[in-house]
Amino acid sequence: MLELAKIAARVAGAILRERHGQPHTIHYKGLRDITTEADLAAERAIIEIISLGCPGAKFITEESHQAHQDLSGGPVWIIDPLDGTSNFKHGLPEFSVSIGMAAGGELQVGAVYEPMTDQLFWAERSQGAFMNGTRLQVSNLGLEGAMIQQDWPRQPGPRERMLRYAQALSVPAECLRSCGSAALAFCAVAAGWAEAYIQLTLQPWDVAAGMLIIQEAGGVATSLDGVSTDLFQPDWLASNGVIHDQLVALLQAATDRPDHRASMGS
Ligand code: IPD
Ligand code: CA
Ligand code: CA
Repeated sequence: MLELAKIAARVAGAILRERHGQPHTIHYKGLRDITTEADLAAERAIIEIISLGCPGAKFITEESHQAHQDLSGGPVWIIDPLDGTSNFKHGLPEFSVSIGMAAGGELQVGAVYEPMTDQLFWAERSQGAFMNGTRLQVSNLGLEGAMIQQDWPRQPGPRERMLRYAQALSVPAECLRSCGSAALAFCAVAAGWAEAYIQLTLQPWDVAAGMLIIQEAGGVATSLDGVSTDLFQPDWLASNGVIHDQLVALLQAATDRPDHRASMGS
């Protein structure tokens, strides 16, 4: 199953690499939410490869199979064919293919491929996390040395909330960054290149592979309040574990600030 995930990620990545920098057919799915012909072509290729290699597979995918699936039975493949479509559309090289597989109620394998750097991140449950053959381990840095990645939600309310969090995090952290591919941001934490990642509006296909890769690299991924690890919930805090509780408390304090509560209409 891991090999299947890796092959499908590489094939989809080659499609994206070939189309990068070319004119795109853009379709708007919602506010600031786009898909291109490349997203669709990559997803078709992944589904074809996985259907051949894993007969009877079920799918949750961004472009064609969004319906909820029960993860407690046989293999459910959770796929984002192009994570970072806005970067891709603008010609930036930071984007990825994300493929996770859950069975028996748990994530079993995950692969995230960055086509423009040829970096393949993967993990298998209880077998560790790797990037192109090198074992991954989260960093042990504290907050004062931390690089924290965050992404910007599309909707005005959550975007405003993230702005408050950026303000709160800018005081104790060494630096803040925004990458534009949630899957790559999860992998950066797993590799020890960043200490945390925060986003408020993620979907299961943004999270599945990256979450397993982080866990297998010794890190933690939960809801912002530190409680839930449900793949279908939207707000995520991934970290090296060392700073997780501190970040939960800091974000909670930023949420509770009176001016914030007023701006959120509460
Ligand atoms: C998006 C990226 C981005 C995150 C958004 C996602 P897409 O996925 O992961 O980093 O901030 O919330 O929707 O639309 O490029 O597949
Ligand atoms: Ca995505
Ligand atoms: Ca996508």
